[in-house]
Amino acid sequence: MTRVFSGVKPTGHLTLGNYLGAMRQWAAVDQHRADSLFCIVDLHALTVDHDPARVRRLSRQAATLLLASGLDPELCTVFLQSHVDEHTRLSYLLECVATDGEMRRMIQYKEKSAQERERGGSVRLSLLTYPVLMAADILAYGADEVPVGDDQTQHVELTRDLAVRFNQRYGHTFVVPKATPPKVAARVMNLQDPTSKMGKSDDSGPGIVYLLDEPDVVRKKVMRAVTDSGRVVEYDREARPGVANLLEILAACTGGNPESLAAVYDSYGALKKDTAEAVVEVLRPVQARHRELCADPAYVEGVLRDGAEKARAMARPIVDTAYRAIGLLPPVSEPSLSAAR
Ligand code: TRP
Repeated sequence: MTRVFSGVKPTGHLTLGNYLGAMRQWAAVDQHRADSLFCIVDLHALTVDHDPARVRRLSRQAATLLLASGLDPELCTVFLQSHVDEHTRLSYLLECVATDGEMRRMIQYKEKSAQERERGGSVRLSLLTYPVLMAADILAYGADEVPVGDDQTQHVELTRDLAVRFNQRYGHTFVVPKATPPKVAARVMNLQDPTSKMGKSDDSGPGIVYLLDEPDVVRKKVMRAVTDSGRVVEYDREARPGVANLLEILAACTGGNPESLAAVYDSYGALKKDTAEAVVEVLRPVQARHRELCADPAYVEGVLRDGAEKARAMARPIVDTAYRAIGLLPPVSEPSLSAAR
């Protein structure tokens, strides 16, 4: 069976973009057709300035929201990265295969490190090595497919390169994975800045709809979305990115398509109103389930405990094989070996 691996970084509250662009498809499609692992990649949240209490809170919340959006622990594996040591064990080996130049060429590293320096801060070494840990996340499970947005395809390309290089040098060890971009609503854009992605890390923006926003907050944000000058409702990502974004969100929520929806509206106001209601309706069941799960923290903990155990059992043999292949001796446990010394 195809194996799928994807990760959510607990660096901010999950957004409508995360849901429509990824989580919904994991629940509706991936977990049914493939052997899927969904990981809250908490170690990755430590690569930038962070507050420990907030990371803990966001990790628990991300896990709860993944379950609330329909991931079923009977069908897939949901767990925290830091609960499975294999990620960091493998990451070190891959650091011995990756090059310094390769890391410095990563677009996300260049952007984030520049931002950090502009703020007068220092750049954590882990920000540079982050893509190697991400490669370890994927390779430790022999994943075939990695459903991610296009901002992550460069990291998945790197993962492929590292897998191929390791296999060539040390013998076949890793499955070479590929990125699989989501089919619908690949990118929900920021409502205030429709040319940039609705990212969770730029917190508190009025252009970001969070999965846990109250209906009235959702309405307000959508009604205040930036549209474009002019009046015509047409689907044109280049010329009218604001309207196009609303049409795409509406289409993703109602199952329609943006072009034909454009023909239905003759004012921005009506489009916004329907989009707001459609978003509220899509979020309603997720929020209701989230409330139930919050009332039962022991259940969520149990899911994460079982998930980590399942994940460990999958990753362990693959990572052990890599340790042997690269030249590390197995730990001496048999009495015969010590006797031979
Ligand atoms: N880097 C991803 C992001 O920022 C998160 C991530 C970490 C991930 N490890 C992964 C995604 C492995 C897919 C597979 O969104």
